Amino acid sequence: EKGGYDYFMLKEIAEQPKAVADTLLGRIDGSGSLSLDEVRIPVSVLREVDKVVIVACGTAYHAGMIAKLAIEHWTRIPCETELASEFRYRDPILDQRTLVVAISQSGETMDTLMALRHAREQGAKVLAICNTNGSTIPRESDAVLYTHAGPEVAVASTKAFLTQLVACYLVALYLGQVRGTKWGDEIEAVIRELSDIAGAVDTVLETMEPVRELARSLAHKDTVLFLGRHVGYPVALEGALKLKELAYMHAEGFAAGELKHGPIALIEQDLPVVVVVPSPRGRSVLHDKIVSNIQEIRARGARTIVIAEEGDHAVVPYADHLIRIPATPTLLQPLVATVPLQVFACELATARGNEVDQPRNLAKSVTVE
Ligand code: F6R
Repeated sequence: EKGGYDYFMLKEIAEQPKAVADTLLGRIDGSGSLSLDEVRIPVSVLREVDKVVIVACGTAYHAGMIAKLAIEHWTRIPCETELASEFRYRDPILDQRTLVVAISQSGETMDTLMALRHAREQGAKVLAICNTNGSTIPRESDAVLYTHAGPEVAVASTKAFLTQLVACYLVALYLGQVRGTKWGDEIEAVIRELSDIAGAVDTVLETMEPVRELARSLAHKDTVLFLGRHVGYPVALEGALKLKELAYMHAEGFAAGELKHGPIALIEQDLPVVVVVPSPRGRSVLHDKIVSNIQEIRARGARTIVIAEEGDHAVVPYADHLIRIPATPTLLQPLVATVPLQVFACELATARGNEVDQPRNLAKSVTVE
């Protein structure tokens, strides 16, 4: 049931603080370290892992892109994220020391399933991150970390994405914890921050009315561009994907550093460009570079829609529209930065008269190629 909301998607967006909290539940012990007993891959095997490969499709792939940054940072194990549909048709290098992480909400996506079968044939260990109990992907994996988002009915993935991110952070932090890295203190601090993140998601949800208003005012547009860097790049891709599938608009996400290598030619008068700004506290170099990107595109006529941390004053002069998100550790920012983009796409779809829960041509789980 829609619980008083017009669409399942709205209900599922609103459920995100709870979904995130549920996915953390019981996985952080009293002393603030992680206990992932359900991950039935022996710690001795995890200590020997020398490469992590993440496979997924669509929104789950975007979660995987963010996971790569978290895993490499906190564990120093090389990690690559690949579209399952690409991975299975090449000749990837895998062996017993490779950990493959397959991310899937439904647990039934054919490409992801085929990718993990291929990985296991090569002797790799497969850990599934999945939202659907007893589905095929977890059944065929060595271990599974379930996301506890609850059933996701709307075709466009929202709460499953946020919980996939949480599960990915848990895997990254857990690997860091069992292997011991120089980031021990940071890992502890991030685990503490994760415990509070549901509240931050809630704060974002409470401030979404201006985003809805903005979306309605853009309903007649043909194109929206999205820019981001580091973890903000997959967030930009996710914002663009949501807009394509729900509003049927031309939407593209770019890594902001690529602007000068081509995409800046697209900027014209009044073109809406959403920019995801990294925290000025974390990687401040990236922050400053994005601020100059915003200046550059605005000087060329773009209408800038800026998503920036509370207290980031540097962006104010260049933001035609400013969407504030709570301060988080750098790597966790996608948990709060994605939410306004979901609301934006949902409202634009509604304003354009589209069927929000059941976009044309799409199915909730893609069990064919
Ligand atoms: C986008 C969306 C799809 C899925 C993709 C993978 O909103 O829902 O891109 O993320 O089809 O599906 P799962 O996670 O079920 O493997």
